[in-house]
Amino acid sequence: MEKFIIHGDTRLVGEVEISGAKNAAVAILPATLLIDGITTLENVPNISDVKIICKILTSLGAMVNWTNEHTVVVDTRHLTSTHAPLEMTSKFRASYYLLGALLGRCKDVQVGLPGGCNLGARPIDQHIKGFESLGATVYYGHGQITANAHNLAGSTIYFDVVSVGATINLILASVLAKGTTVLNSVAKEPHIVDVANFLNTVGADIRGAGTDVIKINGVSKLSGNHTYSIVPDQIETGTFMTAALASKGDILIKNCIYEHMDSLSAKIIEMGGNIENFGDSIRVSCTGKLHPTNIKTLPYPGFPTDLQPQIGVALSIADGTSIINESIWDSRFQYTNELIKMGAKITAQGKTAIFEGVDNLIGAPIYASDLRAGAALLIAGIIAKGTSELYNIHYIDRGYEKIEDKFSKLGAKIERVNEE
Ligand code: UD1
Repeated sequence: MEKFIIHGDTRLVGEVEISGAKNAAVAILPATLLIDGITTLENVPNISDVKIICKILTSLGAMVNWTNEHTVVVDTRHLTSTHAPLEMTSKFRASYYLLGALLGRCKDVQVGLPGGCNLGARPIDQHIKGFESLGATVYYGHGQITANAHNLAGSTIYFDVVSVGATINLILASVLAKGTTVLNSVAKEPHIVDVANFLNTVGADIRGAGTDVIKINGVSKLSGNHTYSIVPDQIETGTFMTAALASKGDILIKNCIYEHMDSLSAKIIEMGGNIENFGDSIRVSCTGKLHPTNIKTLPYPGFPTDLQPQIGVALSIADGTSIINESIWDSRFQYTNELIKMGAKITAQGKTAIFEGVDNLIGAPIYASDLRAGAALLIAGIIAKGTSELYNIHYIDRGYEKIEDKFSKLGAKIERVNEE
């Protein structure tokens, strides 16, 4: 098991380059299954979730080649299976995208029930409702989901909750369906727009991604021989923005999209930070005390739940009392127990946490409970007085490429240690 040893009390200063978006990559790679051809994807983040999805694609008969650190060529002309191996799909949440993609291309799919971070109940009823509405029969039980159809036909679907996964999965399942599909009350996250842009590049007809209603006119075929570059990672960008704030540092964050960060930027300014927009880079700096604020997580363009733990670290050292209301996931305050070990004063109950700011965090042994909690605790270790040991860092590797290298270039003192 690997852990990070973090020598803290660091003000982060310098430049960092943002990778391609994890949540776009883990959808676009399965989306290549819809194509009868060869696709080149650039700006692919080199992270463990992406490596697993590449292995799953290979097990289905696709040829997957990394031509450099961030470019993947996928040949999906000769698929040999529609059954994804259970031991791989159960490792991460986004394996549910295999359902939409294989159903769309082959009208038949079997995958293990998706795994991923433990954030409380993670139902997929909206995905299933959507597939059924297109004409598929869906069975689930014994840890597996099977879906098949003679034909998929366009349909009008009203989602009961705003779901990133269900929105993308229904786009995947309907691009090759006969007729028009209208998806109502969809999610609008940047990676949804990126998946739609990718599919339109290879011949799909998807309109409205980024709004509340997406209309998909089914096409008969998606074509190969296209190159597509994955959008910069909104959540990695936000992680470094909050790190600049919490460490009262000064970071130029390069290769990112300013407009995707509006809800976080507003909170950083409320808390006393400065933001400068340089087109494809953002500078975040902060001097002096952090002001308290209240935050409610919401679907995009609201404040992202995936940045809630990171801003929670900044709130734990703000000058006063702040409240976070987590409206997306049931169990997203597990990181607060670790911050309390570091001297934070936080009361978390259900979906609400109250942060009474303290002057400093103090280094301690701390445990990541999931990917974003891991990123938040890494920031906590960097700003704390003394040394912290951060365990369960495999969660962080799922979604952040070379995170200790990126933070080290900003002045952090982090060692990755292999512990038996
Ligand atoms: C995606 C992100 C995850 C992020 C989340 C919310 C990926 C791979 N993961 O997860 O990092 O935290 O969006 O921004 O992109 N729900 C249902 N029924 C469903 C589907 C969802 O009730 O069928 C509920 C969930 O319990 C949750 C809410 O809808 O309360 C949002 O979930 P969803 O947007 O689907 O999250 P994911 O796509 O799993």
